[in-house]
Amino acid sequence: MKVGVLISGRGTNLKSLIDACAADDFPAEIVLVISNKADAGGLEIARAAGIATHVVSHKNFATREEFDRAMTAKLNAADVDFVCSAGFMRILSDEFVDAWRDRQLNIHPSLLPSFKGLNVYQRVLDAGCKVSGCTVHFVRAAMDEGPIVAQAAVPVLEDDTPETLSARILEAEHKLYPHALRLVAEGRVTIVDERCVIEGDTTVA
Ligand code: GAR
Repeated sequence: MKVGVLISGRGTNLKSLIDACAADDFPAEIVLVISNKADAGGLEIARAAGIATHVVSHKNFATREEFDRAMTAKLNAADVDFVCSAGFMRILSDEFVDAWRDRQLNIHPSLLPSFKGLNVYQRVLDAGCKVSGCTVHFVRAAMDEGPIVAQAAVPVLEDDTPETLSARILEAEHKLYPHALRLVAEGRVTIVDERCVIEGDTTVA
C-alpha cells in the first residue's frame, strides 16, 4: 500500500510510521509527505528518510477546495492509494474527504468521541478524567469523527499538566498509529454501519 502522510508540525507520528514501514514485513510504504507549513519539523524527518516531500501552503489558495485539490493532485501524481493525517491541522473539504473516503486515517490525542478539537489536554484535566488516550480513525467530514480503528488508554495522574499528559499520550500514539495502519493495510478492517470490524488479534505490539 502506497501511503501519503499529511503533516503540519514536528512530525513525531510521521517518524513512528516511517520507522514501522522500514520493517521488511510491514505492508505499507510511505511515498510522499505533504506539509501545509514550510517550517514543519516533519519535513526534515521525511527528507532524512529519503521520502519525497511537498509543501502545499493553504495561504496560496483562495478556497479550501482549491488547496485540497492541489494536495490530491500531488498524492495522485505519487500514486498514493492511502492517506494518513499525522498532526495535520487543517479542516478538510467534503470534496477531499469524499475523494479519500475509507482510504484516509487520522490520529487524535483523546479517546474519541470525547474531546474532539483543540486544547484537548487542558479540557481532559478540567473535566477531572482519570484516563485519557488516543484514537486512530477513518476520516469523515466532521472533524475528529469517523469509524474507530484502534484506541489506547493512558492514566491521568493527579499532578499532570497538559505537558506531562500530552507526553504520555504521545508515547501511546507512536505505538498505536503503526498498529492501526498495519491492520488496515493487511485488509483486516471492514467498515460495517460506520463501525470498524477487525479480524484477528488486535493487541498493540
Ligand atoms: C499529535 O498529538 C496528534 O494526535 C495531534 O497532533 C499531534 C501531532 O504531533 N493531532 C490532532 O490533534 C488532530 N486533531 P506530531 O506532529 O509530533 O505527530
